[in-house]
Amino acid sequence: MELPLQKSLLRPWRTGDETSLEKHANNRKIWRNVRDHFPNPYTRGDAMRWILHASSALSENVFAICVDGNAVGSIGLVAKDDVYRKSMEIGYWLGEEFWGRGIMTEAVGAVSQYGFDRFDIVRLYADVFEWNNASMRVLEKNGYVFEARLKKAVIKDGMITDALIYAKLK
Ligand SMILES: CC(C)(COP(=O)(O)OP(=O)(O)OC[C@H]1O[C@@H](n2cnc3c(N)ncnc32)[C@H](O)[C@@H]1OP(=O)(O)O)[C@@H](O)C(=O)NCCC(=O)NCCS
Repeated sequence: MELPLQKSLLRPWRTGDETSLEKHANNRKIWRNVRDHFPNPYTRGDAMRWILHASSALSENVFAICVDGNAVGSIGLVAKDDVYRKSMEIGYWLGEEFWGRGIMTEAVGAVSQYGFDRFDIVRLYADVFEWNNASMRVLEKNGYVFEARLKKAVIKDGMITDALIYAKLK
């Protein structure tokens, strides 16, 4: 599945993206805002493992964000299970040199629409660390609504912080 947008192309991760992925993902400013399973430093081996995984098992759920032919970010949906099986969690990151151009605002809009069309879900949500105002803004611009502050729910970069839940309903 490919989603051609005005500012980027969303397409599955594939072999050949390793160099660009390693270059753009190897950034502490990105790592600081995502889960700890996202490596830092981000090595060639990490890029190879991610592409192997994302291009097969996750190919319907995760897109590379391509600008000028290079994969410079990622956006995806994680299925929830059991009583939460009608929900998916949206997650994303973008190479720092591309920040502030509206790329992620457009990508979140497209992937949210894709999620509701493609999967049998009624709820999309994101879990944002309390210092990440840019991500909150991206979500708000796409109709996600602030629902809850999970106090001291997260430890990131050695700091205990709140998690803010933003959700969009079908
Ligand atoms: C958050 C992130 C995805 C935003 O991507 P982006 O393409 O730069 O976002 P956009 O340009 O579409 O929109 C950013 C918005 O946030 C605003 N913004 C940026 N920095 C901000 C800040 N420090 N405080 C408040 N708003 C801020 C911008 O002004 C813009 O809003 P506007 O259009 O109303 O002016 C990107 O910075 C990133 O990858 N960060 C690291 C990883 C991450 O945070 N992932 C999300 C985890 S929940």
